[in-house]
Amino acid sequence: MEAFLKPYEVKTNKILEIAGNFKKSLSLGLNGQGPLMMLPSYIGKPCGNERGTYIALDIGGTNIRAARITLDHKQIFYEAEVTTSFKNPELLIDYSTNRTTAEELYDYIAEIISTIIKKEEKYFLGFTFSFPVKQENILNATLIRWVKEIDVTGAVGEDPSKLLLDALLRKKLNIRPAAMINDTVGTFLHAAWIEKETDIASIVGTGHNTCYLQENHELTGKPMIVNMESANFNIGLPYTQIDKALDENSSFPGTAQLEKMVSGVYLGELVRRILLDLNDHGLRLKGKIFKKNINHPYSLEARDISEFLCDSKNITDFFSCTNSEAEMINNICQLIVKRSARLVAATYIGTVLHIDERLDKKHVIAIDGSVYEKMPYFREEVSSTIKEVLGEKSDHIKAVLVKGGSGAGAAIAAAIAVNSSFTVSR
Ligand code: GLC
Repeated sequence: MEAFLKPYEVKTNKILEIAGNFKKSLSLGLNGQGPLMMLPSYIGKPCGNERGTYIALDIGGTNIRAARITLDHKQIFYEAEVTTSFKNPELLIDYSTNRTTAEELYDYIAEIISTIIKKEEKYFLGFTFSFPVKQENILNATLIRWVKEIDVTGAVGEDPSKLLLDALLRKKLNIRPAAMINDTVGTFLHAAWIEKETDIASIVGTGHNTCYLQENHELTGKPMIVNMESANFNIGLPYTQIDKALDENSSFPGTAQLEKMVSGVYLGELVRRILLDLNDHGLRLKGKIFKKNINHPYSLEARDISEFLCDSKNITDFFSCTNSEAEMINNICQLIVKRSARLVAATYIGTVLHIDERLDKKHVIAIDGSVYEKMPYFREEVSSTIKEVLGEKSDHIKAVLVKGGSGAGAAIAAAIAVNSSFTVSR
């Protein structure tokens, strides 16, 4: 059993090696090479005085959210809000299926937005779109591909802001998209609005990604937030047969290697595959563990893993298994969660070292996402891994949970865009 699980352990020297590879990939990526996309956001740090009422739209991997948000005197007021799931039957987007067109998706979104506005008013909108896009300016971009097992036809190669604007016009809403940002950038803007030392932001939720502030960005010569799309990092990761099998059976094989080892869509699936593999290798469990059907891909979710780790009784209930089997399943869950947190921490170390090789300055890493927020042990493991690798110097690095950046961050981005020289169609 020990030998079977060994490949999932990530030792200190491996973390150091991954951090080094990640740091090199950052420099390579800025020159258009290597696995990191290093997408420009066309936004720097907020000044902190952004004001006004905006619509914030957030399309992530699990939910679609729209909010009417007022920024005033460093305070953020959520005046109206609506959230719906991507798996909503009205929308019928299911992992690994292909049942919704872009037009249907955006019409549905326009409908949601119409429920939170005051009809007589005109609004600018900040759009958090958490998928890889090649941005041309603060608003317009091209969707490179779908990820996180979501697939909507007629959207790849198109501009999400334009598709949204068309749907808003079809619905005759007096709302104009002003800025489009990645969710990591939203978290950055929200965090930096409050804590000036923020220089890195990350999401560890359904998906995983990190952005940071690049001083003297070559496009503008000014500081710019760069969305690394770090999900794609793939150099020297401790990739196992299970990771390989998960990838081969995913919607987009060969992409997002890091994400498939760390993020919420995949954590349950990794555990499920390990359990099935154990079963195939004769380590048959004595209880009725497989009575519950975990044969179906993605039938174990990150939420289940979180519950299993909170209380072993949830494991015995879920699988109808014995206490010792539950202990073994608990160990496997811990191992996969720990591996995720340690790999993520390695990429944070690589990013900090890229910004400040001698670790002279203070760094704040703002992190959001369901896995970081709710998965037992995760936050502690990220911080302790950074400490384990960097020793005393890690005192300069603060990893903090910053919730709701994709809403507040979108409003801040819209405020920046409206007040910048960039012209928004009015
Ligand atoms: C995926 C997306 C990325 C997003 C991340 C977290 O990796 O490609 O854009 O930031 O998920 O939601």
